[in-house]
Amino acid sequence: MAPHISQCSLFSYITLFHLIFITLAQSDNYIIHMNLSDMPKAFSTHHTWYHSTLSSVLENSQLTTTNNLNSQILSKLIYTYTHAMNGFSANSSPKEHESLKNSLGYISSIPDLPLKIDTTHSPQFLGLNPNKGAWHDSNFGKDVIIGFIDTGVWPESESFKDIGITNIPSKWKGQCENSIHFDSSLCNKKLIVPLYEDPVAIGTFAAMEKGVFVSTSAGNDGPDLTTLHKGTPWVITVAAGTMDRDFHGTLTLGNGFGVKAAPSVDSYSSRGPSYSCKFVLKPDITAPGTSILAAWPTNVPVFELNSHKFFSKFNMDSGTSMSCPHVAGVAALIKGAHRDWSPAAIRSAIMTTSDIFDNTNEQIKDIDSGDKATPFALGAGHVNPNRALNPGLVYDVGVQDYVNLLCALEYSQQNITTITRSSSNDCSKPSLDLNYPSFIAFC
Ligand SMILES: *[C@@H]1O[C@H](CO)[C@@H](O)[C@H](O)[C@H]1NC(C)=O
Ligand SMILES: *[C@@H]1O[C@H](CO)[C@@H](O)[C@H](O)[C@H]1NC(C)=O
Repeated sequence: MAPHISQCSLFSYITLFHLIFITLAQSDNYIIHMNLSDMPKAFSTHHTWYHSTLSSVLENSQLTTTNNLNSQILSKLIYTYTHAMNGFSANSSPKEHESLKNSLGYISSIPDLPLKIDTTHSPQFLGLNPNKGAWHDSNFGKDVIIGFIDTGVWPESESFKDIGITNIPSKWKGQCENSIHFDSSLCNKKLIVPLYEDPVAIGTFAAMEKGVFVSTSAGNDGPDLTTLHKGTPWVITVAAGTMDRDFHGTLTLGNGFGVKAAPSVDSYSSRGPSYSCKFVLKPDITAPGTSILAAWPTNVPVFELNSHKFFSKFNMDSGTSMSCPHVAGVAALIKGAHRDWSPAAIRSAIMTTSDIFDNTNEQIKDIDSGDKATPFALGAGHVNPNRALNPGLVYDVGVQDYVNLLCALEYSQQNITTITRSSSNDCSKPSLDLNYPSFIAFC
């Protein structure tokens, strides 16, 4: 996640916002799209042309003395765009804006927003504070290695810069290797190995046996029931919710309708129960997944407008692929504070301390129904990192407990071997009663 975003991407978000919500409160900031072919040859750069355009508008609309004209223009010209589009953003009165429309080369303009997205918001939303609570008490998860399996990574992104990161822990035995898709020189102290294998091949059961916590996304096939396919009992399955500061939220608050109920489970998040294992309730937990600021490949447009492609190093994205890493991060903090805890103990801590009430003190809602979110949408609740560090009671599960479940599900020895990679699996005590922090009775 990025500490900041560039001007260019800020512009993209603002524009995107405008495509979605046209009716907004009046604003004095405008983004002016200009036609570069119309630039008179007398100007050496776009910047001087825009400067002059703005200055002629000011002169027409208000009395100014030449002494302060230049500083006035400089204070009004906010930014010059040269990559995604040609033009500039400026602060102007409605009258000045009308005059701008008659300027040579003017194509179009859109109002800017009183919106500033400087940083990702989810750490604050989750209550993480560098001076106290989970972040502080876990020493920021120092030396905890996170294995994250996804379709790929854009290692050049600023999100993966290793400034301020200490040396790779000596316990790490892996190597950063060259592959067709990855040059090993791109590895650093933060990104230590590229993983391109799919989750099934990696073997989440093997990971669990080795004490590796696996966080998986519930899927984006909601809002119908049983749209969740991966019901694997030895991983944590993460649903996606909204935060109090997404596009909708900013609009609502800007118009003075009061506090937005947050979090809510979003419609796209896949719902349980899962087909593959109906005896374990899934999803397990909800985490921020809607409008999350994330690193973005610079060769994929963030959006297209009138056949113009807009590119950015960061993008606002939504999905359970965005909520799942939040839980991986929280798990890293718990592991940082409790080095000897098993993946099941960490999952239990996350689930039993989760929130079921939103910021308006009502039960967390399902955006789809507008009503209370059921456990099939929400899981145990919304992740609360600060509480998860001190859960009190913990429901632990060992390898044999999962085997007992598979036996009770009438998996054949061969079926179980496929999962456990062990030729002898003890099925003498089959049991559907897994020591899980939730239970399910569904008809
Ligand atoms: C830009 O100006 C050129 C030359 O005046 C014109 O042919 C072209 O259509 C203009 N483009 C737009 C987008 O207005
Ligand atoms: C068990 O193995 C059989 C034979 O390989 C296969 O057809 C079946 O789908 C497997 N069942 C499960 C639940 O994996």
